[in-house]
Amino acid sequence: MDKMVIEGGFPLIGEVSISGSKNASLPIIVSSIMFDGCDSEIHNVPDLEDIKTIKKLLTSLGAEIKESDKPDKLIINTSGINNYEAPYDLVKTMRASVLVLGPLLAKYKRARVSLPGGCAIGARPIDFHLNAFKLLGVTVEVEHGYVEVYADKLKGAEISFPIPSVTGTENVIMAATLAEGTTVIKNAAREPEIDDMILALNNGGADIKRTEPSVIIVNGVKKLNKLNHKVLPDRIEAGTFMVASAVTKGDIVLKDINVSHLRTVIDKLSESGAKIIINSSSSLRIKGAKTIKSVDISTAPYPDFPTDMQAQMMALMTISSGLCVITENVFENRFMHVAELIRLGASIKVRNNFAIVKGVRKLSGAEVMATDLRASASLVLAGLASSDGLTTVSRIYHLDRGYEKMEKKLSNLGAIISRVKASEPSAIPDEQVFKDLNYGKGA
Ligand code: EPZ
Repeated sequence: MDKMVIEGGFPLIGEVSISGSKNASLPIIVSSIMFDGCDSEIHNVPDLEDIKTIKKLLTSLGAEIKESDKPDKLIINTSGINNYEAPYDLVKTMRASVLVLGPLLAKYKRARVSLPGGCAIGARPIDFHLNAFKLLGVTVEVEHGYVEVYADKLKGAEISFPIPSVTGTENVIMAATLAEGTTVIKNAAREPEIDDMILALNNGGADIKRTEPSVIIVNGVKKLNKLNHKVLPDRIEAGTFMVASAVTKGDIVLKDINVSHLRTVIDKLSESGAKIIINSSSSLRIKGAKTIKSVDISTAPYPDFPTDMQAQMMALMTISSGLCVITENVFENRFMHVAELIRLGASIKVRNNFAIVKGVRKLSGAEVMATDLRASASLVLAGLASSDGLTTVSRIYHLDRGYEKMEKKLSNLGAIISRVKASEPSAIPDEQVFKDLNYGKGA
């Protein structure tokens, strides 16, 4: 397993281009299942482990991933799909695999997908998805760790989510796209990745409208034509690099972003003292403050502060000048990075779903272990800020799931960071490690 070795204490300076969004690419890629008449083309797709996984899954269903003339352009032909099952060994590595349920139901009226199981940040059930499918006329059977769904036909219905669910909203939109009649989705999630998927589907012949912030109406159509879409920028990668500038007292220009999707992150970083200059709708400059102010963070569904930026902001707050409270309101176990940040010298106390962070003068390098995607980003950021000694982050396969060429982008900004192959396999098996780390506490 690869490790990242970081010599921190240097300000990051320069320009970085942000890649396409992982969380928009995944639903848009699986939506190609509904377009079987010709090749689907998806542009600005990031080169990530999760993208490799979803391509593997589509291939296992019988789709063909074609050669492309550009690394970020994906060409898929799904005419050959003849299998409707997503196996456990694929789904367990990436929960978002459950997104195949919607398009397989829409196109083939059936699917069999392994239940995703929990992950480090929580139980992550999919009951909202399945209850919504039932309202569309789908029979849902759960046994032996698999969910089996089938229907003679899907009929539009009124669906109201108990709380907003990103992939739940995406799955239901896809299932309803080819259904008979109209589906009204209430308390729909508002993340921009959903609207990017809606844009892609509408340009391909679907009829989907967000009529109010949390209401989406899908008028079923008979057939779609061609999927050809450029994925929007990754707002969480952008936010992560903004924190990289703030935590190293650097000066970074971000390019190829969508500033309007970063409002709460811009506000919070400005409140903490960073100087942010908006160059255009797709570029900003962020300069780190000499003294970082402590700011309280409370995560919530979009458009509020994103849970996917909580760990990164905590890294910044560990070297702030006072005390702050970070409240995690979306997932029940998303503080796995706390124990590791404490190893770097941070002063953090966790009580239920909030963490009290007392800023320390400096962090010092240590060996730490990544536990999930955004926790690994948080540890890299803390390592960049540690001015005393090397930081080694192990299990960075978590990082590779959601960040494209991170060490290359950071090195280009002046970071002293390298990826090394771990000399020997970790002495402790994964299961034991997770047990020690209270894995699945929320499961
Ligand atoms: C999406 O996960 C993202 N993943 C996550 O990003 C992100 O953290 C999350 O939305 C919240 O913004 C993708 O888009 C691929 P939810 P998702 O359904 O859809 C509960 C990353 O770092 N819930 O919006 O799985 C759930 O437990 C990843 O890129 C149910 O109870 O999240 C959570 O508490 C991590 N039943 C809350 O709702 C359900 O059926 C919101 O979850 C579904 C969800």
